[in-house]
Amino acid sequence: MPNYPVEPFRIKTVEPIQLMDPAARQVAMQRAGHNLFALRAEEVFIDLLTDSGTGAMSQEQWAAIMRGDESYAGARSFFRLQEAMQQIFGFEHFVPTHQGRAAENILAALLVKPGMSIPSNMHFDTTEGNIRARGGHPVNLVIDEAFDPTNQHPFKGNMDIAKLRAFIQKTGAQNIPFGAITITNNAGGGQPVSLENIHQVSATYHEFGIPFYIDCCRYAENSYFIKLREPGYAQKSTLDIAREIFSLADGAWMSAKKDALVNMGGFLAVRDHSLFQRISNELILREGFVTYGGLSGRDLDAMAVGLWEGLDESYLAYRLGQTAYLAEGLHAVGVPTIEPAGGHAIYVDAGCLLPHIPHAEFPGQALCAALYLEGAVRGVEIGSVMFAAPDPKTGEMVYPRLELVRLAIPRRVYTQSHLDYVIESLGNVAKNAPALRGYRFKYAPELLRHFTCTFEPL
Ligand SMILES: Cc1ncc(COP(=O)(O)O)c(C=O)c1O
Repeated sequence: MPNYPVEPFRIKTVEPIQLMDPAARQVAMQRAGHNLFALRAEEVFIDLLTDSGTGAMSQEQWAAIMRGDESYAGARSFFRLQEAMQQIFGFEHFVPTHQGRAAENILAALLVKPGMSIPSNMHFDTTEGNIRARGGHPVNLVIDEAFDPTNQHPFKGNMDIAKLRAFIQKTGAQNIPFGAITITNNAGGGQPVSLENIHQVSATYHEFGIPFYIDCCRYAENSYFIKLREPGYAQKSTLDIAREIFSLADGAWMSAKKDALVNMGGFLAVRDHSLFQRISNELILREGFVTYGGLSGRDLDAMAVGLWEGLDESYLAYRLGQTAYLAEGLHAVGVPTIEPAGGHAIYVDAGCLLPHIPHAEFPGQALCAALYLEGAVRGVEIGSVMFAAPDPKTGEMVYPRLELVRLAIPRRVYTQSHLDYVIESLGNVAKNAPALRGYRFKYAPELLRHFTCTFEPL
């Protein structure tokens, strides 16, 4: 089995984890209504539910926390964050938010009117939810290669420029308040977007007078993929690549819980001064004053340090090496995944592993449940539970093209032997795949239903 670049850190603080016995896991699953979001953390051995806010902070971040300035207005912590923001992203204005979806909510509240459309390569679930909550239509225009799990395209997160142009012409620019792109493309396998594509997306939106926003929570991983894979960028630093990316946009929002290596935080950044004023008013109403935005001063300091650590290239080499290692190990035990490996996660192709379970019976949920029962490993379904929705015109159920289970790797948390354990557990599940059965909903809310729904096994 291949090794990945050795961790560029050593472990100073230890958090014990324990493997519950199989009978206790069965009881936990029943109590949770078979939804892994409802498990208690101590019922999980290796937690790959998300890479969001689950990373380990560094000694410099913990030291920065002690410097946190908790002044209500004008805290020193805010200005330290502003310094990092200006050097990396270069937008004229920004507000901190408590996480990514708070920024999405503000943007949608101010810009999205009922009936409007927002294109992207692929929107993530919270982005979709916030757009729909304002009566808008999220539209996904990623390249077709994204839906071919074994296609080795180096930038499967790219947007299809011909589709984007045709969509704008059909819809009318006046019905598109802003255009977006997600880097990396979380809903489509954590796949990166090339700088060439970002240039084209920016030029296309701007040709039609549409402002261009980047959902950038994994921008550092995306930038490092560009360095590794895109001709002409090998000699550039990840920081310079990031600067080039953001120079093309009118704004960005970030869940800092990913590449800014913090447990809580986010931001919304823009160039337009009058929009910034409206954002500030909305922020004050719902989140907090403009220099803290729903966070403590210490959180702002941890983010200021984490933004720089997230761009460190020895860390990024180890980080992307971990996901590649997990993917190769899974292939070796007969588990199909989206290829190439994503930046923050491996996406297991549950539809391919469980062809006997139809979309309506949630193959991804079946695989998540089986993996938990086998090894107390927690992943998350990214398939019909999360994304199937009735067509607004015909009422007919529209299923996503891929039924996936995402195994997201928290940053700087798990070692190679943890990943080996995951590979072994999922390999055992794969051996028994034909015997697995589907699920149906017992309860499901209308929006973002995967978080709180409950299931019945079929
Ligand atoms: C691409 C993307 N956008 C937005 C969000 C929302 O961020 P948060 O969970 O901080 O609200 C996420 C979270 O996973 C994400 O992956």
